[in-house]
This record gives sequence, structure tokens and C-alpha cells, in this order.
Amino acid sequence: MQVSTRVYAASAPLPCHMVSRLIEHMDITFRLNGEDVTLHDPHPTTTLLDWLREERGLTGTKEGCNEGDCGACTVMVTDDGGAKSLNACILFLPQLQGKAVRTVEGIAAPDGTLHPVQQTMIDLHGSQCGFCTPGFIVSMATDHLNGSSDHDTTLAGNLCRCTGYAPIIRAAKAAESAPVPDHMRDTPPSSFPKNSGGEEAAPPAGAKPPFAAPKTSDALAEWCEAHPDGTLIAGATDVGLWVTKHFTDLGPVAFLNQCADLQQVTETESEITLGAGVSITRASDALSPHFAALKPLFDRYGSTQVRNAATIGGNIANGSPIGDSPPPLIALGATLHLRKGNARRILPLEEFFIDYGKQDRAPGEFVEAVTIPKQPDTLHVFKLSKRVDQDISAVCGAFNLVIENGLVASARIAFGGMAGTPKRAAAVEAALTGQLWSEATIKAAIPAFAEDFTPLSDMRASAEYRLKAAQNMLWRAFHEGLVDVLEVRA
Ligand SMILES: Cc1cc2nc3c(=O)[nH]c(=O)nc-3n(C[C@H](O)[C@H](O)[C@H](O)COP(=O)(O)OP(=O)(O)OC[C@H]3O[C@@H](n4cnc5c(N)ncnc54)[C@H](O)[C@@H]3O)c2cc1C
Ligand code: FES
Ligand code: FES
Repeated sequence: MQVSTRVYAASAPLPCHMVSRLIEHMDITFRLNGEDVTLHDPHPTTTLLDWLREERGLTGTKEGCNEGDCGACTVMVTDDGGAKSLNACILFLPQLQGKAVRTVEGIAAPDGTLHPVQQTMIDLHGSQCGFCTPGFIVSMATDHLNGSSDHDTTLAGNLCRCTGYAPIIRAAKAAESAPVPDHMRDTPPSSFPKNSGGEEAAPPAGAKPPFAAPKTSDALAEWCEAHPDGTLIAGATDVGLWVTKHFTDLGPVAFLNQCADLQQVTETESEITLGAGVSITRASDALSPHFAALKPLFDRYGSTQVRNAATIGGNIANGSPIGDSPPPLIALGATLHLRKGNARRILPLEEFFIDYGKQDRAPGEFVEAVTIPKQPDTLHVFKLSKRVDQDISAVCGAFNLVIENGLVASARIAFGGMAGTPKRAAAVEAALTGQLWSEATIKAAIPAFAEDFTPLSDMRASAEYRLKAAQNMLWRAFHEGLVDVLEVRA
């Protein structure tokens, strides 16, 4: 594929229609611990972690796993949506355009006064070897700024191997009522000019393939048509690992985080539409009030840092058979919006997943949005994984069961982890629909799971276990509300 390597100076005005096609090299401006930094034409897949440590000497941000799992590299990033914690190891420099970054070096006040969470971590012995501590401090300071007190959830993405979590959670709690230090409130980035002539930092060394950061869906469509083999980067929670673990050269890339059309959440009387670039955190906020079972599901999706980065579009477009959002969205009858050039099409979400690694998406086509019809909340979702927190599903089952006058009026059931794609349980649905919602009906429907699914054995679960677990989830849906399966009884 021929790729333009022409560089157009940001100051040279271009006709509007040419802008999106031509800007493939660019400056990145962001605020780092209170100071503006401009990078000229950085390598698009240099991670913030590498840049901080190797180019800036800011080695407080640690490298543990380099794949988004441990939180040692946590930084606070502020954009127009507020402050959030993110993993710097799978965050590429162009994703920072127009944002403010605060590393552990920027958590104490400029005069050296410790942040309340730093002080309580010392007072309450929250650190032993100290390797994880910078990541914890940044996560805790971000939480403190946001007024969060659900420390178990928000710190699930920070791994501590030696101190133990009790003193750390005590430290987070002890700091809750302390006022937020002024320096933590980073200026809303929209108020500082792009490429404002802030400090000019040397770009990282190495060849620089072209990249784009389209601001509209139209511009993205144009880029995708011109680069049908190019790579789209949304939250980079998958793509980041291709770079840090597989050392993949991505070639031409387009970043989606500045594409305003893809960031929208639109709600009408009858439906909710999530732009493909909406993060899992925002998707959870938008959908959970309508479908209560989604909140505990999304709270177990990766970690706070992962949910803040990962997008709903990426979770669908990657075609993973074990992605957590497709099963419930399929059960809710969601539709997918795809775009190629000026042509748009909408299809039921389940039809997007054709086979393992194969989706109904043409070269140059991209996911624009997903629409979820509003409906009475009859959704049950169960995620089964080896750990409660920060783990990928072995099986994820979603049951949308409408019971009227004791009968199953409709059943939409979808599973992840049971086939090469997220898949509906058509035979189970048929066995339930129109029947009494009773133990006898469940028993009669159980064999239908084997008609729908021939699961695989892998490191997460055996085929037999998966099939049994899926069947048991139907029982759990039946008993939910009657029994709390997490309750421990003597
Ligand atoms: C530590 C960790 C924990 C995780 N835990 C979970 C979990 O619990 N549950 C779960 O489901 N997943 C989990 N994941 C996987 C990951 O978060 C998801 O797959 C994520 O949703 C991908 O979204 P993204 O925005 O980061 O996509 P990216 O990594 O940016 O992209 C993923 C793929 O989708 C393509 N793509 C992205 N957006 C579009 C678009 N709009 N149109 C077309 N193609 C597009 C990209 O080109 C790429 O091929 C985890 C990942 C990590 C690193
Ligand atoms: S180094 Fe482990 S999450 Fe980044
Ligand atoms: S203090 Fe040693 S890993 Fe947390």
C-alpha cells in the first residue's frame, strides 16, 4: 500500500476538504505535571511509560507487567470528561493530545507538602518494598480528587505483592475527608491552545510512520478508505499489547480518541446509542441505570484503569469470543452501526460475529456506534472467571427473560466463551419460550445447551466445565432474587 509521507506544516492553511487527508504528521501538546509540553511528530506507538522514563527521567512511574495488568505505571489523565487513572504502559503519546497528565512526581504540592494519600500511606504503613506504591498513590489521589470511596473497586487494578491491601485501603479511607490540594485540579485542557508553544521536547528516536487523529467521523471514513489495511487505535488496551508484547510494527495508524462523533452518548425515549469511542466506564454509567446487572459486570471488566481506556467499539470490533460486552448487548437486541466511506449500514450485533477471528466488516469499514433499545429491565448477566477482579471471562452468560403471567414470553440468551464468537443460545431460547417459568422447564431446557454449544478446553476452563457452568447460569437466573448466591451461611 502506498502511504503518503508528506509533512504539512501546521501553520500552512489548507482547504477544509484536504485537511483530514493530509495531516498525517503532527505535533502533540499536553500538560505534564502542570507544564505544557509539545512533541514534534512523535513516533505514534511510543508509550507514555517509555517516554516518561527514557526521555524525561521521570522514573517514579514503574514498569511492572507492561500489559495493563498491574497498575505500577498508573498516571492521572485529565480531559474534558474529568480526571481518570490510566495505565501509561499501554497509552500511546498521540492519545494525550490536549490532555493533562500527572505522574507520581506531580502528586505532592510544588512546595513539597505531601498529598493526603501520601501522608496516610506513611502513617498507616501502606508500603513495604515500595514498587507498587507510586501506582497506588496516583490511583488513590485520582480517587480522592473524584470523591470516590469505593476503594476496593478502584484499586483492583493496582497489584501489591507484599504489603497486603488492608493498610492501603485504611490509608485511602483515612484521606477521604482531607481537602483536595489545589495543584491536583489540572486546568481543563480545552482552555489551553493547541500547539501553544509550550516547552518543546525532543521527540523519541526512531522511524516515524504516519499517523492520523481524525476529528470527525467523515474524516475517519476518508482515512479508512485511503488506508484499508491501516490500524485503528481506540483505547489501545488490545493494540497496546501488540506493541509492548509482540513488538508489532503497526504501519499507518489512526487514533480515534479525538473523533468527536464517536465519543457521543445519545439517549432518546426508545434507545441509547453509544459512539464506538465511548469508554467502558462511560458505557457502564450510561447503561447501568437501565439494566442493573450491567454494573457488577462492568465493575469486573479489567480494572478502573482498563475501563477508563477501553472502548465499547474496540470491545466489539476485536471480535473476541470472550469480550464482556457483546453477550449482554446481544441479549438486549443491540444493533451495530458500521460505516465505509459515505455508506452506512446497521445490523443486529450477533450477525457481526461470523466465526473465530472473522467479523462482518469490510476493509476500510469501521464501527461507528452501537444502539441498545430501551426496555423493561429483565436482564441477568453472569461472568465466570478464575479471579473476581481483573480477569477475562471463562464464560459470560446474559439472559434477557421476559416472564408474563408465569410464562416465558420471550428469551434472548447469549454467551461469551462458549464458541469461537459471542453467540446466541437459539435452542435454549426455543426450549424456554412459551413455557411455564418453572424448575421443570429449566430441567427440560438444559440439554439444549449441548445443541447450541461445543465449547473448547483451554487454560481458562475445560469444555465440560464451560458447558456445565453455562447450564448452571440458567439455574442461577431462575433463582436470582430468591437466593443471594454470594451470601455465606453457617
Ligand atoms: C489488563 C486488561 C484487562 C482486560 N480485561 C478485560 C475484561 O475483563 N473484559 C473484556 O471484555 N476485555 C478485557 N480486556 C480486553 C480489552 O480491554 C478489550 O478488548 C477492549 O474493549 C478493547 O477496546 P480498546 O478501545 O482498547 O481497543 P483497541 O485496543 O484500541 O482496539 C482493539 C481492536 O479493535 C479495533 N477497533 C477499535 N475501535 C474500532 C472501531 N471503532 N472500528 C473498527 N475497529 C476498531 C482496533 O483496530 C483493534 O483491532 C482487558 C485488557 C487488558 C489489557
Ligand atoms: S506496567 Fe503493569 S499495568 Fe502498566
Ligand atoms: S509494597 Fe511491595 S509490591 Fe506493594
